[in-house]
Amino acid sequence: MRLLNFEVNFEFYNKTYRNMNNFEYYNPVNYIFGKDQWAKLSTLIPADAKVLMLYGGGSIMKNGVYDHVKKALENHEVLEFGGIEPNPQFSTLCRALEIIKEQKVDFLLAVGGGSVIDGTKFLSAATYYEGANPWEILKNRIRTEKGLPFGTVLTLPATGSEMNSGAVVSRAETGEKLTMGGPGLFPKFSICDPTVVHSIPKRQLANGVVDAFTHVMEQYMTYPSGALLQDRFAESILQTLIEVGPKVINQPDNYEMAANFMWSCTMALNGLIQKGVPTDWSVHMIAHELTAAYGIDHARTLAVILPSAYYYKFEQKKQKLAQYGKRVWHLSGDSDEVIAKEAIAKTKAFFESLGIECRLGHYTENYRGFAAKVGQSMINHGMLALGEHRDITPQDVERIVEMAY
Ligand code: NZQ
Ligand code: ZN
Repeated sequence: MRLLNFEVNFEFYNKTYRNMNNFEYYNPVNYIFGKDQWAKLSTLIPADAKVLMLYGGGSIMKNGVYDHVKKALENHEVLEFGGIEPNPQFSTLCRALEIIKEQKVDFLLAVGGGSVIDGTKFLSAATYYEGANPWEILKNRIRTEKGLPFGTVLTLPATGSEMNSGAVVSRAETGEKLTMGGPGLFPKFSICDPTVVHSIPKRQLANGVVDAFTHVMEQYMTYPSGALLQDRFAESILQTLIEVGPKVINQPDNYEMAANFMWSCTMALNGLIQKGVPTDWSVHMIAHELTAAYGIDHARTLAVILPSAYYYKFEQKKQKLAQYGKRVWHLSGDSDEVIAKEAIAKTKAFFESLGIECRLGHYTENYRGFAAKVGQSMINHGMLALGEHRDITPQDVERIVEMAY
């Protein structure tokens, strides 16, 4: 190709400089997948450990998971703490923290979905935290290098928390929902039995599909970066979720679907697909504000923000959107631009087909002026530059939220 001297050789640039970033891939979680794995708990947790078993609102009592866990741990000393709510609350976790300290607990076992697991991760970090108030771990983004050891028994595929080292904790008194993490917060093990899916309400299953789907998108929908294998991993998870998502919602007792759903959710956020590539995460950071303000389910807030964020950042994302449109949705069209737009519409239609609405106005009538509050909250939390280019300012966030009204 002949170029005039003022032209940039994009072809050369594309081929030469789009290199995968350097990376380290560390994931020490012993991931135990399949039917009837409960009994292994007895050997996974040290025999002399004083265990605190943590759970949520009681679904484990109804679906038999509680009995399986108690039986497996009949020779262990096990205390219990129930009542961790969806979007785990700091105040509730502080009560559990007192028990851990008073009773000198030395192993935590989370039995539940993302909320119980995240709450347990917070407790793991807070036990060794020496500052004045453990909320500082979230507020000041303190990484946890060493936490109290814990394992998980997953009851709801969605977040990937069972195989990552991140957590999200909410604080109703201040209207905050913040993230934390660090290498000390990987579970020692996670028991992932797909038969738990049969008792999950349809609403939570739909949430799980959309949450996992968005996790993949946050790590994939950026710009081409020469990471060919990561792209294919990401696209295969998206395609699997599109295939099994509707089926698992309609037939939660279909083991084949449940198994593929569970593994897809884990693979969406266990660190593998983010290695060597730019990541976005602006959809999550903005969406957390919607849960903090209105209590909307995590996945539903993602469905509200994702289309709006992608339209807003269309120019920067359009190459990857077109790739996604062609490979995942098998779209063809007159131009990449057309395919990229159609790809956003397809994503929105997929969420809606699962019963998840993509407009904030569907969830609350009280949204006037909310965008400005979210912008302010970004400033308060020091989130001044979001997205893969670190160019989404609080003002941009405000516009993205307005577009989602
Ligand atoms: O409270 P219980 O009784 O356990 O009932 C739960 C809860 O009401 C129910 N449920 C769970 N397993 C069930 C079941 N009901 C019947 N049968 C079962 N087998 O489902 C409801 C929702 O549970 P929850 O744990 O809140 O859902 P999810 O797993 O979607 O977790 C959401 C939380 O995870 C955070 C979210 O922000 C939110 O706070 N996230 C954590 C991430 C991480 N650590 O990596 C990443 C995500 O992006 C997400 O932000
Ligand atoms: Zn999520």
